[in-house]
Amino acid sequence: MLKEIFEQPEVAKNILKERIKNRTICFEELAFPKSVFKKIKNIAIVACGTAYHASLTGKYALEELARIPVWADTSSEFRYRRPLVGKDTLTIFISQSGETADTLAAMREAKKAGAKTLAICNVLASSIAREADGVIYTHAGPEIAVASTKAYTAQLVVLYLLTIHIARVRGAISNKVKQKLIGEFRKVPRLLKEILEGPSGSRNKCAAYADDFRKYYRKMHNKSTFLYLARNINYPNALEGALKLKEISYIAAEGYPAGEMKHGPIALIDENPWVVCIATDSAVYEKMLGNIQEVRARGGKIIAIVTKGNKDLAGQKINYVIEIPKIDDFFSPMLVAIPLQLLAYYVALKFGLDIDQPRNLAKSVTVE
Ligand code: F6R
Repeated sequence: MLKEIFEQPEVAKNILKERIKNRTICFEELAFPKSVFKKIKNIAIVACGTAYHASLTGKYALEELARIPVWADTSSEFRYRRPLVGKDTLTIFISQSGETADTLAAMREAKKAGAKTLAICNVLASSIAREADGVIYTHAGPEIAVASTKAYTAQLVVLYLLTIHIARVRGAISNKVKQKLIGEFRKVPRLLKEILEGPSGSRNKCAAYADDFRKYYRKMHNKSTFLYLARNINYPNALEGALKLKEISYIAAEGYPAGEMKHGPIALIDENPWVVCIATDSAVYEKMLGNIQEVRARGGKIIAIVTKGNKDLAGQKINYVIEIPKIDDFFSPMLVAIPLQLLAYYVALKFGLDIDQPRNLAKSVTVE
């Protein structure tokens, strides 16, 4: 898993190199004409697990930029509830393996209902890739560890490219804006590398915080939990951070949109849970600061993920702070994913667990 985490800058670099040619976004293997993206009235993105979290980020990105209604759904829910899709809907199915039973079945339902189907897959010629009307490959290389890392960021990179492409084809953004976005996007591989390997990289911090957590957990008689809070386009990362941790460390973890705290989860906050707050620079940053204060006031331990140069948290005596480099907030989910993966990895490592083969999980879920 650690090897695959460290492959992410190269994977992102290769995808951008392959897909952006002469300032144009190309999906060469995609059999659709551009007109499909013009004609559709809405989009459904459907997947399981980590790929579902990528789908949810895709919803935020597409609605923001292409101004088209998008919903994200888990495959197991989509397939059993007669979803409202038809010829005006583009349905996108995301799957690393391309063999996930629920996602394949959900795609067949969408086809039956007359919707166009587009697969975003990592494994070439997999069932989902073959049966879809069109496919875009993520080309992340084989992912062996059960917990998905590089496939997730590759899915995000492809979704962002698709978002910019659809937004431009539909005339929601000008060519000038498109080029500006591409310029910012091109920074991502270098910044991923900086997070992993730079002088203030998060690797050592995550390892140290994980060690502190292990000691705390023992002190609390193995009863501490994790809560992940975020808002807006990083909210899916809160779900993904929690999933990564529970998959490989077996510690109870929940992801929540921070604005929902007062509607229930705040009851959980005392000195027990460790709360990961994604508070990067964005339009909702002040709101996240408010949430951090609420957690702190109740004694919760906070691990804050912030943008480099943040001064606010030093004043608030937050002990655990992880910085990510500056980038337009729109693209930040790809960067924020890295410390979440590292934290999960190091917690599992400190607990001496089998990280690449966690109990009860299979790499490819080919049965219901
Ligand atoms: C999480 C994880 C799973 C998969 C899910 C979908 O780390 O690996 O949640 O993301 O089973 O698998 P694919 O993408 O192969 O359809």
